[in-house]
Amino acid sequence: MSDSWAISGLDLHLDLAGPRVRASLEAALREAVRGGRLRPGTRLPASRALATDLGIARNTVADCYAQLVAEGWLSARQGSGTWVAERAPSVSPAAPGPVAAAARRIRYDLRTGVPDVSAFPRQAWLAAGRKALGAAPAQALGYTDPRGLPQLREALAGYLARARGVAVAPDRVVVCAGFAQGLELLCEALRARGATTLAAEALGYPRHWRIAEKSGLSVTAVSVDDGGAVTAGLSPADALLLTPTHQFPLGVPLAPARRRQAADWASSAGAVIVEDDYDGELRYDRPAVGALQALAPEHVVYAGTASKSLAPGLRLGWLVLPARLVDDVVAVKSAAGRLSSSLDQLTLAEFLTSGAYDRQVRRVRLAYRRTCRS
Ligand SMILES: Cc1ncc(COP(=O)(O)O)c(C=O)c1O
Repeated sequence: MSDSWAISGLDLHLDLAGPRVRASLEAALREAVRGGRLRPGTRLPASRALATDLGIARNTVADCYAQLVAEGWLSARQGSGTWVAERAPSVSPAAPGPVAAAARRIRYDLRTGVPDVSAFPRQAWLAAGRKALGAAPAQALGYTDPRGLPQLREALAGYLARARGVAVAPDRVVVCAGFAQGLELLCEALRARGATTLAAEALGYPRHWRIAEKSGLSVTAVSVDDGGAVTAGLSPADALLLTPTHQFPLGVPLAPARRRQAADWASSAGAVIVEDDYDGELRYDRPAVGALQALAPEHVVYAGTASKSLAPGLRLGWLVLPARLVDDVVAVKSAAGRLSSSLDQLTLAEFLTSGAYDRQVRRVRLAYRRTCRS
């Protein structure tokens, strides 16, 4: 016999108070409709299914539905079940909040750091997700490796070496929820190793300063000019946060001599540079500069994100770590259960290996270039 009645319809939570089961079921349903928890047009579970869920007789549910139909709360459609009656909602829809209202008003969004999210490749992303999920082993949906799924780390390593010149192997890659979480994990790991100071570009992203400070690091400012961060005579610090490809917010690349200077400083001081490569692949206004990390892979943490190339809402980013930091960062990540969604990771892996990521980057680059020139 088919079990479809048992799994069809919605899952409904009802509190049955008191000994009179039918009366309390009626009251609970009435209240759910009146209060808007059950919306007009919602199909109720089959009487047999609801009776099983609640541990009561099917007739009790059927009688109760009939009563509420008679009262006008529900409507029964021959052969197609019981529905919440179509009627004016008792609660008027909430007025649009300030964010929705502002979004409607904005014609040109000139905020820094926000990509054109309307260019997100929805169809290609869905196709990649469908393919990746179809092919994934069941284990990929369990509690997975806190470093990230091997498929994605492998795909990222290939992409980053090819497109950004990063010195990388999959076992150095840790997937994270955007750059912000990557920075947080790293600062916590460095703090746990005894680090106390982070130097950061004076003109930088204020949230990143706050993340470092929240982890217990004190942040000092490095001045910035039209060659990027001024790396000559850097004060002692355990770590240095840089945007070498595209200084945020000035937009200049770090001057070649300063790249070398920063890498030498980190190597000789035993410090760590955090290379925030937030939009390195998206250069549309000049040739892209390769990753600084390749100059000193054991002293530079390369950090990338899908927030600019795809969309910030994905919350996908990646760290490429010096060998000595991998275990510590992974320990911080797994201790707090900050694992990344398997579905998103599988999809991004497929997106990268199929070439869809490259195509999207090239498409967006072209669109930005055209907008820039028009
Ligand atoms: C300088 C800088 N780094 C990184 C990011 C990306 O952050 P996330 O990956 O956390 O979205 C941004 C976003 O605006 C940024 O401005």
